[in-house]
Amino acid sequence: MSKKIFSGVQPTGNLHLGNYLGAIKNFVDLNNDIQNECIFCVVDLHAITVKQDKDQLSNNILETAATFIASGIDPTKSIIFNQSKVHAHAEGSWILSCLAPMGWLNRMTQFKEKAGKDKEKASVGLYIYPILMASDILLYDATHVPVGEDQKQHLELTRDIAQKFNKDFNCDDFLKAPEPLIKKNFARIMSLKDGLKKMSKSDPSDLSRINLTDTKDEIINKIKKAKTDSYPIPDEEKKLIDRPEAQNLLSIYSSISSQTLDKTLVEFGGKKFSEFKNQLAEILSSKISPISEEIKKLINDQEYLNKVLAEGASKAEDIAGKKIKEMKKIIGF
Ligand code: TYM
Repeated sequence: MSKKIFSGVQPTGNLHLGNYLGAIKNFVDLNNDIQNECIFCVVDLHAITVKQDKDQLSNNILETAATFIASGIDPTKSIIFNQSKVHAHAEGSWILSCLAPMGWLNRMTQFKEKAGKDKEKASVGLYIYPILMASDILLYDATHVPVGEDQKQHLELTRDIAQKFNKDFNCDDFLKAPEPLIKKNFARIMSLKDGLKKMSKSDPSDLSRINLTDTKDEIINKIKKAKTDSYPIPDEEKKLIDRPEAQNLLSIYSSISSQTLDKTLVEFGGKKFSEFKNQLAEILSSKISPISEEIKKLINDQEYLNKVLAEGASKAEDIAGKKIKEMKKIIGF
């Protein structure tokens, strides 16, 4: 069955293995299925919900587009563009904010995490950010949205908003409620230093994550220093309970080798972590360093990246522009 895919990544720098295994690797698989129509967005309007440096932001937009392409997304098959180039995203977001109740937004756990203790100082944009995300998805009638586990609640909100719009304006299924595509076991890649914390670009320790721009030596060093425990590797998934670091490294190995966790446990059950880590470092560097080299090459060809983004924006504008026009008509504008 053909799918309409939409997903986005924030251009906030330091894209890491969590972004790759939780999202971008799946974008590539979906892009490779000729039946799918895929749209991958560099969500720069989302990025400014927290303060950004102007020059760094424009570099990060290009680097995120370069990461998509270097990972294997073909810009002649899939649409790649940056959100701020298509005005319908912001317009749709405003319309949807006028019908989404505050109670729904108050439940969003990511806002609570990101705003931290002093939520009075967080921007209004950070608070209503999930509505912009709903607008992104609904403008393209996306049927499926590949994301990591941390975005699941935002997708549930998107479905609720779509249904409320259709009900409030009595327009059947004008806005299509999308299905999340979240990979079991691999959708929450954890920090290499603490198996209970998500791998994140904002962690102050660079040793906590593998960046997609890391060199082979950096990857090997980070895996060597990754936290483990003192027991051998188990041969069954249920024996991983209460061993978050072991679970994380074994999940990373399984995901990067595109095999099940069960198969990895059969391969390494009973062995020592030192032996497993050598193989993990080997496979990670063989898969990630070519991407890293390609990103560096593409970053030097800004003309090409700008052309990909401009062509993508023009195609995205055709789709989203029509949808927002219909949406405004339904409302009475
Ligand atoms: P962002 O930019 O924080 O992350 C991009 C993608 O990477 C996934 N991810 C992870 N997956 C597994 N383990 C991790 N440690 C990890 N860290 C990040 C995220 O789940 C995400 O899929 N709100 C979104 C961007 C967005 C979007 C959209 C996504 C805006 N509009 C429309 C889908 C559809 C975000 O901030 O992702």
